[in-house]
Amino acid sequence: MSDAAKVPAGTDLIDEINALRKERNAVILAHYYQKPELQDLADFVGDSLELSRKAAETDADVIAFCGVKFMAETAKILSPEKIVVLPDMEAGCSLEDSCPPEKFAAFRARHPDHIALTYINCSTEVKALSDIIVTSSSAETILQQIPKDQPIIFGPDRHLGGWLSRKFDREMLLWPGVCIVHEAFSETELLKLKAQHPGAPVAAHPECPPAIIDHADHVGSTSSILNFARDFPGDTLIVATEPHIMHQMEKALPEKTFIGAPGADGNCNCNICPYMALNTLEKLYVALRDLEPRIEIEEGLRVKAKASLDKMLEMASASVGKGDLGPVTAG
Ligand code: 13P
Ligand code: SF4
Repeated sequence: MSDAAKVPAGTDLIDEINALRKERNAVILAHYYQKPELQDLADFVGDSLELSRKAAETDADVIAFCGVKFMAETAKILSPEKIVVLPDMEAGCSLEDSCPPEKFAAFRARHPDHIALTYINCSTEVKALSDIIVTSSSAETILQQIPKDQPIIFGPDRHLGGWLSRKFDREMLLWPGVCIVHEAFSETELLKLKAQHPGAPVAAHPECPPAIIDHADHVGSTSSILNFARDFPGDTLIVATEPHIMHQMEKALPEKTFIGAPGADGNCNCNICPYMALNTLEKLYVALRDLEPRIEIEEGLRVKAKASLDKMLEMASASVGKGDLGPVTAG
């Protein structure tokens, strides 16, 4: 049955979702790349680190996760006693797909002296095979706490790993994964856009390739890009990350102009994350009503994956910013 067919005609989705969230004692968490209507309904909107923290500390019985599967799995790993639903179970991630656990295990086995510092955009199995998880907002703080002579495998995002490597002059063995969304930005089109808006700074996510990062005035996680949007002195900002983040900028900073960096033909929708876009209001309603699709993780695997996530939460505590524009709490 299609999702639309599961919703009775005439249903007021917002009213129903609000009633169900009370009835279920549910918290709705959303990533900044979600559709505006989902961000606006959420109890909390944040980046990957903030959402992990929120999932670990909430006292709700149900977490409805408007994001992708690895994020909902992270919530379940950290809060196993809660029901975690993901509106669309097909909401994956190209970085996760690039890193099959058996290949990652074999790669680790070939480099036994290396520790595995792994981006949170990976499967639960890969988390279980890793020593420390990082997000884009915690990676710098965590990397700086690892002794200089400790060899490191960094996966699965070679662009985030490469950027960290250049920034801290630290060699790491990089897994060759990419985010298809950030990979699609075009340097040629970005330069044209910069020429049209002289003086407008560029803020880029570190999942972008070096050709884009090289033109950026600010590089960082979604929440750090939101902070830069608030703090930069001008009135126009070029944003090189998934464009739904601009919803928060436009709400909080209506006096400024935000322009999404272009993809290859200058006018494509290739920078919209196709996985994040699978979640809709209808599917969120059905997920809260039926408590399905539900994330389930085998306990032994969960405990192993939790160790590397706990390490991140412990080591990242130094990275909590003061006076951030994000995370956003509803109300
Ligand atoms: P952050 O929000 O942690 O920067 O992550 C970006 C991303 O690509 C999530 O999939
Ligand atoms: Fe994965 Fe990229 Fe989509 Fe984030 S934006 S979920 S990294 S494909």
